[in-house]
Amino acid sequence: MKLSSRAMKMEPSATLAVTAKAKELKRAGKPVISFGAGEPDFASPPAALEAARAAMDRGETHYTPGSGIVELREAVCGYYQDRFGLSYEPTQVLVGSGAKPLVYEAFSCILDPGDEVLLFAPAWVSYVEQIRLCDGREVVVDTAGTDYIPRLEDVRRAVTDRTRAILINTPCNPTGVVYDGDLLRGLAAIAEEHDLWIIFDEIYERLTYGGKAHENLVALVPEAKERTIVINGVSKAFAMTGWRIGYALGPKAVMDKMAALQGHLTSNACSISQWASVGALQGADDDVRTMHAAFEDRRNLIVDRLLAMPHIAFAPPEGAFYAFVDVRACLGMKHDGQSLDDDVTFCSRLLEAEYVAAVPGSAFLAPGFLRFSYANAKEEIEEGMKRFHRFLEQLRP
Ligand SMILES: Cc1ncc(COP(=O)(O)O)c(C=O)c1O
Repeated sequence: MKLSSRAMKMEPSATLAVTAKAKELKRAGKPVISFGAGEPDFASPPAALEAARAAMDRGETHYTPGSGIVELREAVCGYYQDRFGLSYEPTQVLVGSGAKPLVYEAFSCILDPGDEVLLFAPAWVSYVEQIRLCDGREVVVDTAGTDYIPRLEDVRRAVTDRTRAILINTPCNPTGVVYDGDLLRGLAAIAEEHDLWIIFDEIYERLTYGGKAHENLVALVPEAKERTIVINGVSKAFAMTGWRIGYALGPKAVMDKMAALQGHLTSNACSISQWASVGALQGADDDVRTMHAAFEDRRNLIVDRLLAMPHIAFAPPEGAFYAFVDVRACLGMKHDGQSLDDDVTFCSRLLEAEYVAAVPGSAFLAPGFLRFSYANAKEEIEEGMKRFHRFLEQLRP
């Protein structure tokens, strides 16, 4: 039977594909170390678990308002007030089943067919697919040659009559770069000049290292509030990936439309998970701080190990939990007689030979790179990096 051209064009998520392959090998008894998934290995905070249990005991197991329970939307507003001094009303907050569908709903509500979104590559896997699913077009500004920082003149040059939005993701998945205030002000000025939406994905905002601070664009440029859709959620900093709760904040008119779309797709996010997230936002700050300290340790460990390796180039990450490694100098070399033609064959060979799973950079619009998620235990990082080092030492021209 015929499938739609939309379905045929869609690529599956490469990070999920690598994780699935690594899990399959693990099930087959192989000593796999996976740097694939962007998923903390910590338990979700006790405050979240307790709030979820209490919600179940109270019988909170039915549909909730489509945009989320008011208690969670109020908790999100409280969080944004405390953390960034921003004042949002609960009607300007939409709760979704993770941050991912909210990004899709945002594209869907601002793009007409053929409209363009400016995207800074390397970029998270799902943006491009979601833009295309909405019949939009990604216009990529490459940052691989500029330390992963978009140059404002390149961004300006990429704007056309069809540009509708700029997608900003800081701290960035996959590069770990954190945008500073001047850059964000410059990007906001371009958005203002050309009357563009800003989608500001700050899902890693709690995770910055080495004294680098995250800046919220709306707090920096209050005039941008009316054109900005902020994306955040509990998945990363609160180690709550499986609960599937994200939130978007923005002008009520667009939040209402996104809520209407969501109403036809998923209805509300899981009721128990929403209550768990209220618990997390109100009672897990110490846990977030403890996990952050552990991430910083892991980041320092992986940076230290990677800096000692041959053939690769690498800039220490300032945020999120990814190390993005340039393996272009290895391409064309051989491992055990097998040629490493591109980042995809590099990843497959690394997994087969050393049972180390990383994600090919081409999934992030950055062929010739690999992404290592260091959201796993230090012993695993230590062992995985030992194997990666050995793999690199075995490369031959
Ligand atoms: C940049 C970025 N945005 C959004 C998401 C989606 O998060 P969630 O798991 O809450 O859907 C991710 C998850 O990997 C991400 O890396």
